[in-house]
Amino acid sequence: MANFIDLKDLSKDQLLDLISLSLKWKNEPHTKFMQDKHVVLIFEKPSLRTRVSFEIGINQLGGSSHILNEKEMQLGERETIEDTARVLERYADLVVIRCFGHDQIIKYAKTSSIPVINALTDFSHPCQVLADLVTIKEKIGEFENKKIAWFGDCNNVLQSWIEASALLNIQLYIACPEGILPNKDTLYWAKNINKNIIVTHDPKQAALGADCLITDTWNSMGDSKETPEKLFKPFQVNNDILKLANENVMFMHCLPAYRNKEVTSEVIESQNSVVFDEAENRLHAQKAIMKFCLTK
Ligand code: CP
Ligand code: NVA
Repeated sequence: MANFIDLKDLSKDQLLDLISLSLKWKNEPHTKFMQDKHVVLIFEKPSLRTRVSFEIGINQLGGSSHILNEKEMQLGERETIEDTARVLERYADLVVIRCFGHDQIIKYAKTSSIPVINALTDFSHPCQVLADLVTIKEKIGEFENKKIAWFGDCNNVLQSWIEASALLNIQLYIACPEGILPNKDTLYWAKNINKNIIVTHDPKQAALGADCLITDTWNSMGDSKETPEKLFKPFQVNNDILKLANENVMFMHCLPAYRNKEVTSEVIESQNSVVFDEAENRLHAQKAIMKFCLTK
């Protein structure tokens, strides 16, 4: 059994195997290896893609899914996180958790005798970034010598992107406002492994010759206060940014997107945009993650 909490917990080969398996199962029939497997999914925050793709993926693999939404479950509120884990392990084979504090899922996993999957915390979103990597592999074919550029907020999705870039030696430019920086410890760890992770406050430097442009909302779920738009506006992915990138550049966004905030309507609707393929790949990536957790 293995948890899937952060990408940095994986080896490079494990991450590459997950990408390969996601694409294999996307393109050919697979076994229903989850027959008689029961999955509890705890969602303390809203979700469209993660919730539906997990439920349908579990169903396609022959398993059963049981959702607890934010009204039914807030970790640590009605009983301790440890007691919740000790009860659910008596019924289920796997737990998928979307919660606020990263420390909550870590605490849960420490007690749980069944595997735990991180479906997003305030800190990281590894399921999303695995799907992003699958999308890049599918459409560009390789990670080496490709330039990936991130724009805007330094949030949970970026955290998992930094971890993936360190493991796979990806060239990652992070264009963010001054004072809004990635997690210091993560950056220190990642830069020690991969010198090609670069933080800049110049969005043009990040965009120049990029093979992939990525952004996300300027206000993530659970952010304590809204950040002034004026701070982020220079980091909007718009036609000026697109023009600086490679001709065949891909635009990616985990969704939900806020049009004309972090990305213009023109860019998200352009032929460079792969956001719905990226959303589809959540399904394929998560099936591979469940296989990894249940069989390791
Ligand atoms: N990208 C993503 O995780 O979407 P949801 O919040 O809708 O699950
Ligand atoms: N950073 C966003 C991602 C949503 C899928 C959030 O946490 O709200």
